[in-house]
Amino acid sequence: MGFLIIVVFSFLTSGFLLYALPDEAAMAGLKKELQGVGWDFQNSGYCSWVGVTCNPFDLSVEALELPRRGLRGNISIIAELKSIKRLDLSGNLFHGAVPLFFGSLPGLEFLDLSMNKFEGFIPSSLGDFGSLKSLNLSNNLLVGGIPNKLKNLEGLQELQISGNSLNGSIPEWVGGLSNLRVFSAHENHLFGEIPESLGSVSQLQLLNLHSNQLEGVIPESIFFSGKLEVLVLTQNRLTGTIPDSVGKCKGLSSLRIGNNRLIGSVPSSIGNISSLTYFEANNNHLSGEIPSEFSLCFNLTLLNLASNGLTGVVPAELGNLKNLQEFIVSDNSLHGEVPISLLRCKNLTKLDLSNNRFNGSLSENICITSRLQFLLLGQNSISGKIPSQIGNCVRLLELQLSENYLTGEIPSEIGKIKNLQIALNLSFNHLRGLLPVELGKLDKLVSLDLSNNELSGTIPSEFKGMLSLIEVNFSNNQLFGPIPLFSPFQKNPSSSFWGNKGLCGDPLSSRCTDFYNDEYENAQHKVSYKMILAVIGSGLAVFVTVSVVVVLFVIKERQEMKSKAKAVEEIPSSPPVNIVGRVFVDSLKQAVDFDSVIKATVKDLNKLSDGTFSAAYKAIMPSGLLILVKKLKSVDRTVVHHQNKMIRELERLGNLNHPNVMRSIGYVIYEDVALLLHQNMANGTLAHLLHESPEDEHEPDWPRRLSIAIGVAEGLAFLHQVAIIHLDISSGNIFLDDHYNPLLGEIEISRLLDPSKGTASISAVAGSFGYIPPEYAYTMQVTAPGNVYSFGVVLLEMLTSKLPVDEVFGEGLDLVKYVHGASGRGETPEQIMDSKLSTVSFAWRKQMLAALKVAMLCTDTAPSKRPKMKKVVEMLLEVKQGDWAFWLKSKRRMTHDVL
Ligand SMILES: *[C@@H]1O[C@H](CO)[C@@H](O)[C@H](O)[C@H]1NC(C)=O
Ligand SMILES: *[C@@H]1O[C@H](CO)[C@@H](O)[C@H](O)[C@H]1NC(C)=O
Ligand SMILES: *[C@@H]1O[C@H](CO)[C@@H](O)[C@H](O)[C@H]1NC(C)=O
Ligand SMILES: *[C@@H]1O[C@H](CO)[C@@H](O)[C@H](O)[C@H]1NC(C)=O
Ligand SMILES: *[C@@H]1O[C@H](CO)[C@@H](O)[C@H](O)[C@H]1NC(C)=O
Ligand SMILES: *[C@@H]1O[C@H](CO)[C@@H](O)[C@H](O)[C@H]1NC(C)=O
Ligand SMILES: *[C@@H]1O[C@H](CO)[C@@H](O)[C@H](O)[C@H]1NC(C)=O
Ligand SMILES: *[C@@H]1O[C@H](CO)[C@@H](O)[C@H](O)[C@H]1NC(C)=O
Repeated sequence: MGFLIIVVFSFLTSGFLLYALPDEAAMAGLKKELQGVGWDFQNSGYCSWVGVTCNPFDLSVEALELPRRGLRGNISIIAELKSIKRLDLSGNLFHGAVPLFFGSLPGLEFLDLSMNKFEGFIPSSLGDFGSLKSLNLSNNLLVGGIPNKLKNLEGLQELQISGNSLNGSIPEWVGGLSNLRVFSAHENHLFGEIPESLGSVSQLQLLNLHSNQLEGVIPESIFFSGKLEVLVLTQNRLTGTIPDSVGKCKGLSSLRIGNNRLIGSVPSSIGNISSLTYFEANNNHLSGEIPSEFSLCFNLTLLNLASNGLTGVVPAELGNLKNLQEFIVSDNSLHGEVPISLLRCKNLTKLDLSNNRFNGSLSENICITSRLQFLLLGQNSISGKIPSQIGNCVRLLELQLSENYLTGEIPSEIGKIKNLQIALNLSFNHLRGLLPVELGKLDKLVSLDLSNNELSGTIPSEFKGMLSLIEVNFSNNQLFGPIPLFSPFQKNPSSSFWGNKGLCGDPLSSRCTDFYNDEYENAQHKVSYKMILAVIGSGLAVFVTVSVVVVLFVIKERQEMKSKAKAVEEIPSSPPVNIVGRVFVDSLKQAVDFDSVIKATVKDLNKLSDGTFSAAYKAIMPSGLLILVKKLKSVDRTVVHHQNKMIRELERLGNLNHPNVMRSIGYVIYEDVALLLHQNMANGTLAHLLHESPEDEHEPDWPRRLSIAIGVAEGLAFLHQVAIIHLDISSGNIFLDDHYNPLLGEIEISRLLDPSKGTASISAVAGSFGYIPPEYAYTMQVTAPGNVYSFGVVLLEMLTSKLPVDEVFGEGLDLVKYVHGASGRGETPEQIMDSKLSTVSFAWRKQMLAALKVAMLCTDTAPSKRPKMKKVVEMLLEVKQGDWAFWLKSKRRMTHDVL
């Protein structure tokens, strides 16, 4: 044995002595060029560097895989890695022209430069990489057409050029790439027709051309091969009919052709596509009836035919579609009774029949064992009463029954639909009787519209239980008496109460003068207390709305119960089995002990903070090392059930490299608990710095705050660059290291709950109270502009030293509204900004004023008016350099009149 080792060892060393490593010079050059790549401390041969794979025989570099690391620099030296087969530089910050590599790299098979900032044309010389199988240039800033020389890439299997600004048409020669399996060119400015020749690409499985300006017809030929699985042509200018040949494509699972100009009827051959899962053809000019053959598509999950000219009835056979989750046929001319057969689809979550001519009454069985979340039946001819069984629809998020012929009373059972949150709209019917007090139990409801009915009596004071309410409409009924003092009521326009018999009080101009006066006066004594509750309520509205939606809470509750049970026992009687864990940082591997990590998180004593998505604990390792452990509270169920996926995601995040993004140093997963390990942050959180540290403990230090703001902005701009939208930006999630360098935390949750990754039709949206942009309540979508808003709130916090939500702002106001309203109240910037900072020097004051303008832009109510994060970084850097004069001028029309 010993002998063998010596032989192998001497063979290796002599190998090294005889031949120098072939790519030594090129890799040394690259290491110099790519700062922050993480090769700095790796002095051993390049074959052991992270992201590098070598040929085991001659030790030449075969693969370089460095995705999502925040890299930039000149990579033309890669042309010297003659043996390279795989090159993945996706999700970095490379810019300038696509590197040419000048026809070198004869063996390159996989090239992924997606999600960078490469600009200019696609170089023709890419056509010289004869062995290329996969080319991904998507999500860059490329312009011009698809170069003809790419037709030489005969072995190409995957071509992705989506998300650029490419123009011109799709060349006919694409049909000659006979090995092509994936072709995606969506979100460009391509025009012309879809070439008929694509039909001869016999291996084509995925064709995605959505959001271009393509014209002409959907070529019949593309369905001939029968291999196509995904076809996405949404949002173009396609005309003609849906070809009958579509039925030949037995493997087609996703067909999305909405937002075009298609005519004719949906061919009945659709029933031959046994694997069809998504069919989306909304916003076209389709006519004829809904083919009953859809019922043969056993796996059909989503059927969207909204906004067409469809006629006839909904075929009863569709009730056989056991997997159907969304049935959307709004804005057509369908008739017949409300298709109760669909209620047999046990998995149906969304039924949208709005704006058709459905008649008949609502079935008492409407929600037997139903998963319905959206019941949208407005603008039809439905008559009869609303059955009391509507209360069985316990999962409903939105109920729209407006503009029908409904009669009778509003059933009090609606109050049982505790999840109802997006809207309850019963307007434009013939409903009569009193308003059921039970509606007051709908504490998540955001929008209530009962207008244009024949409802009578008073507005019950119990309605104040609707803590989330933002929009109400009681107009055109027979209501009378005082409008209860409840901030959402008084904040709605008076027109929401017009046209009644005798409503009085705010927001109507008519005062309550009769015997109600006593009650009214009485109520006014309690006003300040109630107003505060209401303010919190209306703020909570958004919070509750957004955070409760779907995925999160089931797991959360279970986990909390579990952790409570554990906390009582202090330490689990037996350690959990099946612990999976990893420490990414080599130097810490010995020091971290997974059992100690788990034990630390079951003791409340160790809890440092409690966020929306995670609680932070301190954990002292047997080695003496102090680490920060974050216990995720609510993990997407699918993620827990796909532990491997979660682990992959965590490891990928562990590779994210930016000085202002907090990286975890490892993780521990057991049962459905996920713990993320972080290095201890010497200076706690920004929230702590701003609001909790004793006044005299630190000097007023505006420059520190400004550089923290710049750091946070840079971290966030980086995340947006690599397509990560943060879910929970707040000063409590910004950590400060021993040099007060800020690190943006809670990145993991943004990935693990990535709403765009889910198949659910609505996204899980959340955030911290006070930081949530107003539009989230309606859109239920986390967006980059939403992040900009939350950042603006953090910046205001730093400028004012005030909390984002505080009673001191007065009724209905949070920090944003308080600051934006300052000029209206005749206040000067000094009265808003923290005077302990702004009075220190003229220079500080000038910087703070300029930073205040940035914060105002970021917190604009209109998402489209907010600057991009990258722009925010630029502006703040200019603030720091005292070089803001030019953008103050250029942005004047956008800034608010406060200053
Ligand atoms: C990158 O470096 C090469 C030489 O190594 C040089 O020729 C080229 O101009 C550089 N490109 C850029 C964009 O600086
Ligand atoms: C780029 O495209 C290739 C080939 O289709 C694919 O394997 C790769 O995952 C894509 N890259 C990214 C970052 O999505
Ligand atoms: C395509 O884009 C390039 C670069 O932006 C431009 O020069 C060219 O005129 C465009 N071609 C057409 C046909 O629009
Ligand atoms: C659909 O299947 C039926 C019976 O299997 C067949 O007769 C018909 O030609 C098919 N239609 C298409 C468009 O493939
Ligand atoms: C339907 O879906 C299931 C599960 O995804 C799959 O196994 C099955 O093959 C599908 N059926 C058809 C006909 O494609
Ligand atoms: C409905 O959904 C559940 C879970 O989402 C799934 O397990 C089931 O297979 C689906 N189909 C039926 C017919 O229940
Ligand atoms: C519904 O409308 C159809 C015509 O579209 C009519 O024949 C039927 O009687 C109506 N049903 C009810 C209950 O009004
Ligand atoms: C309720 O529905 C009516 C008509 O369908 C619509 O005009 C109104 O805007 C809706 N109410 C709310 C609050 O969205």
